[in-house]
Amino acid sequence: MDVQAMQVAVSPKLMMKKDFLQIADFSAEEIQDLLELATALKKEYFNGGNAPLLKGKALAMVFQKPSLRTRVSFEMAMQHLGGHAMYLSPAEIGLGQRESIADVARVLSGYVQGIMARVFDHEHILELAKWSSVPVINGLSDYNHPCQALADALTIQEKFGKVNRLKVAYVGDGNNVAVSLMHICAKLGWDFTIANPIGYEMSAEAIESAKQIAFETDAKISQQTNPHEAVQGANVIYTDTWTSMGQEEESAKREQAFAGYQVNHQLVSEAEQDAIVMHCLPAHRNHELTDEVADGLQSVIFPQAHNRLHAQKAILARLFGAA
Ligand code: CP
Ligand code: NVA
Repeated sequence: MDVQAMQVAVSPKLMMKKDFLQIADFSAEEIQDLLELATALKKEYFNGGNAPLLKGKALAMVFQKPSLRTRVSFEMAMQHLGGHAMYLSPAEIGLGQRESIADVARVLSGYVQGIMARVFDHEHILELAKWSSVPVINGLSDYNHPCQALADALTIQEKFGKVNRLKVAYVGDGNNVAVSLMHICAKLGWDFTIANPIGYEMSAEAIESAKQIAFETDAKISQQTNPHEAVQGANVIYTDTWTSMGQEEESAKREQAFAGYQVNHQLVSEAEQDAIVMHCLPAHRNHELTDEVADGLQSVIFPQAHNRLHAQKAILARLFGAA
């Protein structure tokens, strides 16, 4: 393969923060830049393979919770870019239990060029970033899921183009995925509304920060309890599990609370005719999302999952200063 010929043509590198911890940390310009780089890297990959931008670089992947997409897509992203990823299971690391987070960060910084971590408490990813001298990527915390949001925005732009008048309706729990999606919508100027049962709202702080971002882009950010009103005029209907990892003991209570919040054929028919249906996965089929909708013509759940690979290549390339 002619490595030079395969180099992606992208705009000059924008200033990036050391770490990728939350969407709100990045400017709209930086997010757009990551989306363009992801698109270029995706094209390059399907045209014969990526140039080895990350040759000689290693990524430690620290997991406190299970994962399919995040683990495999980061591992393959590193491999496609000529680097190496290593999976560190909850049992191996014992983040903050076997060893303090500060010590784990400082030890890993001497072995690898980057750390991706999936944690329970968002403070733990902040602590890891504080003590690490290499970039830290948030692979999901209880507060947010920024890598997911970047892949989601890539998927939405692939469907609708780089338009700035879109409405994204999130139906369900005001969880980590919802927070990052709301922030990326605000950054890109897309209206965002969430319909959730009382008691399952996003934090007032998360909504307030989205409103502040939206002030600059003119996006409308709103919250309501009626899913039917939320999907009126929506171009994107998004849902996620009603019970996130770590909340399993609340599952029965949540099933009851969210009973009227299922994304089914009826709800989808109330949105725009060409609306797409999204879910970060794993899906609890016939709970938050029916089989009919998940496997229907408007669903983009698998291209969306596949875009994790391409979006994360852009994050890795920028953080490692390789593109
Ligand atoms: N969407 C997502 O992050 O999936 P995993 O939990 O399988 O990584
Ligand atoms: N909200 C879900 C997302 C899984 C990718 C959870 O935290 O379990």
